[in-house]
Amino acid sequence: MSERTLVLVKPDGVSRGLVGEVISRIERKGLKLAALELRVVDRATAEQHYAEHDGKPFYNDLVEFITGGPLVALVVEGPRAISAFRQLAGGTDPVEKATPGTIRGDFGLEVQFNLVHGSDSPESAEREIKLWFPAL
Ligand code: CMP
Repeated sequence: MSERTLVLVKPDGVSRGLVGEVISRIERKGLKLAALELRVVDRATAEQHYAEHDGKPFYNDLVEFITGGPLVALVVEGPRAISAFRQLAGGTDPVEKATPGTIRGDFGLEVQFNLVHGSDSPESAEREIKLWFPAL
């Protein structure tokens, strides 16, 4: 059964020229792109996206960072797309958790600047896709 997930190439990934690399890995895995947009996200959307982290010590820096430059938002589709993309991304901490061969493991060094986001559950995917692409 096909499912959809919300993927972000965050501002660090865009500024480092890794958009093509990320999309290429998604496509080579066999996943399909259902939506794709380069945009600068407003604070309200960023705060809703990261609502579960509100109150954590890194929350304000995270919202500043994600609104600080263009990012690429995608809806990615395919069998087990949520887990499949999380496997491509690697663990949240690019050094301690993500292994070489993953996007974060190959290109990341710091947890805040971990290049990509992928929805972590079907419920998050539904909420995030509605937030980023209400017309879908
Ligand atoms: P993401 O998968 O987008 O989900 C929440 C984000 O918060 C995460 O990737 C990181 O960019 C960021 N994050 C998580 N933990 C920390 C931390 N300890 N310090 C700074 N940023 C963090």
